Amino acid sequence: MAPIRSETGADGHSPDGRGRAGVARPVLPVPEAEGTEVDDTEAMAQAITIAERVRRRTPPNPWVGCVLVRDGQVVGEGATFPPGGAHAEAAALTAAGDQARGATAYVTLEPCAHQGRTRPCATALIDAGVTRVVVALEDPDPQVRGRGLDTLRAAGLTVNIGAGADAARRSLAPYLHHRRTGRAFVVAKLAVSVDGRTAARDGTAQWITGPAARHDAHEGRADSQAVVVGAGTAITDQPSLTVRDVANPGPHPPLRVVLDARGRVDATGPLFDPALAPTLVVTTDAAPPDRVDAWQAAGTKVDVVNAAPGGVDLTETLTSLGGHGVLQALVEGGATLHGALWAAGLVDRLVVYVGATLLGADAHPALVWPGPPTISDAPHLTLTAVTALGDDVRLTYDRDDEAT
Ligand SMILES: NC(=O)c1ccc[n+]([C@@H]2O[C@H](COP(=O)([O-])OP(=O)(O)OC[C@H]3O[C@@H](n4cnc5c(N)ncnc54)[C@H](OP(=O)(O)O)[C@@H]3O)[C@@H](O)[C@H]2O)c1
Repeated sequence: MAPIRSETGADGHSPDGRGRAGVARPVLPVPEAEGTEVDDTEAMAQAITIAERVRRRTPPNPWVGCVLVRDGQVVGEGATFPPGGAHAEAAALTAAGDQARGATAYVTLEPCAHQGRTRPCATALIDAGVTRVVVALEDPDPQVRGRGLDTLRAAGLTVNIGAGADAARRSLAPYLHHRRTGRAFVVAKLAVSVDGRTAARDGTAQWITGPAARHDAHEGRADSQAVVVGAGTAITDQPSLTVRDVANPGPHPPLRVVLDARGRVDATGPLFDPALAPTLVVTTDAAPPDRVDAWQAAGTKVDVVNAAPGGVDLTETLTSLGGHGVLQALVEGGATLHGALWAAGLVDRLVVYVGATLLGADAHPALVWPGPPTISDAPHLTLTAVTALGDDVRLTYDRDDEAT
């Protein structure tokens, strides 16, 4: 079927920020035999597309899309505004005006039922006269979890759940994970040669991938609320970990995070320049007090967590990041940190850039991890995306429970 046309602005919000009240568009496919029936999954796909456009602007809130359809026509669309602003349903209802009466609402996540900074969305849908609500996913947030659906049903609306659920789950995986576990969703990013190595024998790694892949990696940073490295990478590479050359970055640069259990990392270099972006060091009480003082004097936040074999307690670290409002943490290495996260079962999504080169058996491995004792014990990954970037390829794998 033809794609559903969208007239929202580039950021997913309508061009004037308030929607397009009173304009009905015959854009959804209308199966001839079924009169004005529309395909729920296709309408939901449009809602997910709208939501994706605002994913950099809404955290720690979820990026949600809503499409209102009446008589086979889209009468309103909306996506979540930044925190404190309208939710997707409210934006779509504003766009639809009176035409929302009798409409079906397609919403990627269960409408809220609690009074926050904005009016409850379930109430807004009821008051606007919407008669059917199709929801891709229930909201695991304890403030919502089922209450939005109950409110809609109690008011006599027809409620259907599950259309487009797999795609919505993939899109919202960091939010869903954060609300279920309290932890940041870990995206482990690796740049490897075709034979799976991350640096040449002498430790040089610039560049395994070409410009297109490296640019794409900055888009990945922009999709994240934190970019994380181990102390080894912070010391060796002196990285800046900033988002560069991205057309639509989010309103805030991601938090730069260094895991440094023993206080080995000097408070100098671009990572500790607060003019570039904020920085957080996660450490333990093994760090010398004068090093902690130096970090803080440089304007760096410091979280002290428990020590664990290999460094900081990683689960506690991810919970701490979740508490800072980080839904998605992009971990950029190095191999020691990647191996520790993998061994602890804390990697939720794996993004592997395969550069068009070979580095050989003596080059550096991607993970410092002994691996499974035998092939039947090797983990199975679910491939969710393949993207060609010049001569390189980006492979995205999700853990089964996040992908499905
Ligand atoms: N090709 C690529 O994509 C890529 C990407 C990044 C880095 N690199 C290269 O990788 C090298 C650095 O990698 P690396 O493996 O030596 O170091 P790393 O993984 O960056 O950092 C490891 C260090 O992080 C600290 N850490 C704190 N908590 C930890 C925990 N729970 N588990 C593991 N580590 C923890 C530990 O130091 P403390 O005990 O002192 O806290 C540990 O020694 C550099 O040469 C860099 O150029 C390559």
